[in-house]
Amino acid sequence: MTWIKSFASAVLLASFELFTVVSVTHAQSPIPLNVMPLPAKVQRAEGALKIDASFTIAFAGYREPRLDRAGQRFLRELHRQTGIVFFSPAKSTGPATLTIAADHQSKPVQELGEDESYTLDISPAGARLHATNTLGILHGLQTFLQLVAIASEGFAVPAVHIEDQPRFPWRGLMIDVGRHFEPVEAIKRNLDGMEAVKMNVFHWHLTENQGFRVESRKFPKLQEFGSDGLYYTQDEIRDVIDYARDRGIRVVPEFDMPGHTTAWLVSHPEIASGSGPYAIERKWGVFDPAMDPTSEKTYKFLDDFIAEMAKLFPDQFFHIGGDEVNGKEWDANPKIQAFKRSHKIKTNAELQAYFSGRVQDLVTKHKKTPIGWDEILVPGVPKTIVIQSWRGLDSLTAAARMGYRGILSSGYYLDLGWSAARHYAVDPLGGPAASLSPGEQQLILGGESCMWSEYVSAENIDSRIWPRNAAIAERLWSPADATDLASMYDRLNAESERLEWLGLTHRSFQRLMLQRIAGSGASLEELSALTDLARALEHQKDYTREESAASEPTSFTPLNRLVDAVYPESEVSRQFSVAADQYAASSCRDSALAAQIRAQLIEWTGLDARLQSLAQRSQLMKEASPASAALSQAAKIALEALDEAVKGAPLSPEQRKSQSDALNALEKQAHGSQLTLPMLPALQKLLDTASAVGACTR
Ligand code: ACM
Repeated sequence: MTWIKSFASAVLLASFELFTVVSVTHAQSPIPLNVMPLPAKVQRAEGALKIDASFTIAFAGYREPRLDRAGQRFLRELHRQTGIVFFSPAKSTGPATLTIAADHQSKPVQELGEDESYTLDISPAGARLHATNTLGILHGLQTFLQLVAIASEGFAVPAVHIEDQPRFPWRGLMIDVGRHFEPVEAIKRNLDGMEAVKMNVFHWHLTENQGFRVESRKFPKLQEFGSDGLYYTQDEIRDVIDYARDRGIRVVPEFDMPGHTTAWLVSHPEIASGSGPYAIERKWGVFDPAMDPTSEKTYKFLDDFIAEMAKLFPDQFFHIGGDEVNGKEWDANPKIQAFKRSHKIKTNAELQAYFSGRVQDLVTKHKKTPIGWDEILVPGVPKTIVIQSWRGLDSLTAAARMGYRGILSSGYYLDLGWSAARHYAVDPLGGPAASLSPGEQQLILGGESCMWSEYVSAENIDSRIWPRNAAIAERLWSPADATDLASMYDRLNAESERLEWLGLTHRSFQRLMLQRIAGSGASLEELSALTDLARALEHQKDYTREESAASEPTSFTPLNRLVDAVYPESEVSRQFSVAADQYAASSCRDSALAAQIRAQLIEWTGLDARLQSLAQRSQLMKEASPASAALSQAAKIALEALDEAVKGAPLSPEQRKSQSDALNALEKQAHGSQLTLPMLPALQKLLDTASAVGACTR
């Protein structure tokens, strides 16, 4: 789809104003508006602003060191995107190509609901970015960078007037560093990505059964015995918080309790409900260890711990977890049972509510606002708490009806491996929330994508988050009627490229991992075939990967296999599926599409043979062979059916059924490598097309 079509359809769907749809420099070289998230209001004008070595920026209005750093970072990013060397550093005042004007400072500690709006005016003569405070400037600079494109006369940004502000004030990304530790560099890369797409909350899931990842100076044994040495020092935490603040991002720490706490209990069994001894958990799942909600020792410990962490993390919000307590240690402990009886507590849910209430009091005592997973929503909890809904939109809606603020994460779990389109369709005010009153809807603050890290290492984490996270960022920032999928994918692909200029590794990691799988003796031809295979496949979805694992995965299982190297969403397969749909819609008459589909099927049909010798030499390739064979065989089935149909011999209903069954069996075969054939529905569709009598004959 051309930029004109995709932009025009976005305009129709999102009712943006479009004054002139014109090419910017030449009719042959229109500059696309690759902005993601889509701004609230865009008006295009004629012409473009050239970006060359004479480009300068200057500040008019409010100044602060954070703005100066943002200006320097902007020029660095512009240099990376264009390769142009900008000789002049940020000028303070006076005429410049881009004038940046903030009215005043933002809050010293970034707050929920601060004004993040900005206005960006670009004409062939120059550009002006205005915002009431620094936050809007940070967002507007990213929009400007997204607009930079190569045109027939060099780099340029299209003339445009943008008025922009977010739909939701809470637009977060959660990263679980408990199950797999993520070094500071990986966190910073992802903060850069968040800034690029205007996300403003980094939710740092710091403690888990598998690791306690933050330095406590009051209780140093927590990290000493609970982290294998993989934790953030307090200096590192402060450095990350500063880095995030520079990018308009709040940092909300999570200390998950009373469950998900094995790593705490290794060194502090005195606050546990069981008798221990405890060891760092190495497997994945829900486990029995839980804090003792009936012991005053627990609350004394948490009072001191929360006091320390409340000082370390300046954000107003403090996440106390609260998810997935199985209650087994509580049931097995006679003292806890006696406490329940004497306090007339009937169920473990009520016992957890008692614990949550006590912890919420401590958080409030230390001047923070508690936030927790939706399990903490029980009758009587104070109205100040914020509910993070992970079990469905229903809990978010119910919370809002009861007067609680909430954020949505159900539908935004990146580890499930869903497509960007599927995440994009999830709206915090959609489904049951649509029936809320305007006042209740105000209580829904936004959402957070979640990167749970069972299968995530520092090497591949960027690829598990990006670019799909940009689609979620758009859902949380842009007007609700921005729903055109073709436009979304065009802009997602453009942003994905730009993210690598910023230093993210969500694409580049793959070349290194495939090189490792192939070994240093692999030929270019083998690497090329392996790349084609990796780009066609996806890892198994939802939590089905465990089901086909040869042995139970643990935190020591190497993440070095093809399943770890494929992208969660195959762009090759997505485009193939779009082509297959269009081909079916044309009743096989579109010969250009036919050629494109055939070429792809022929390539896939031949892949397995091209990888045979590699599979002899590399155990990691051999392990992927069931998937490689399945792909080649599945492509062959579709290709033969199409060829026969074009020759006037469509599949009979019996043949159609048996070939369809064969495709489904091949999908199961791919699971042997924990991989999936994402083009399978498109192949089934091609079989449908090939079995419609007369559909493919002229
Ligand atoms: C969760 O996924 N247990 C919050």
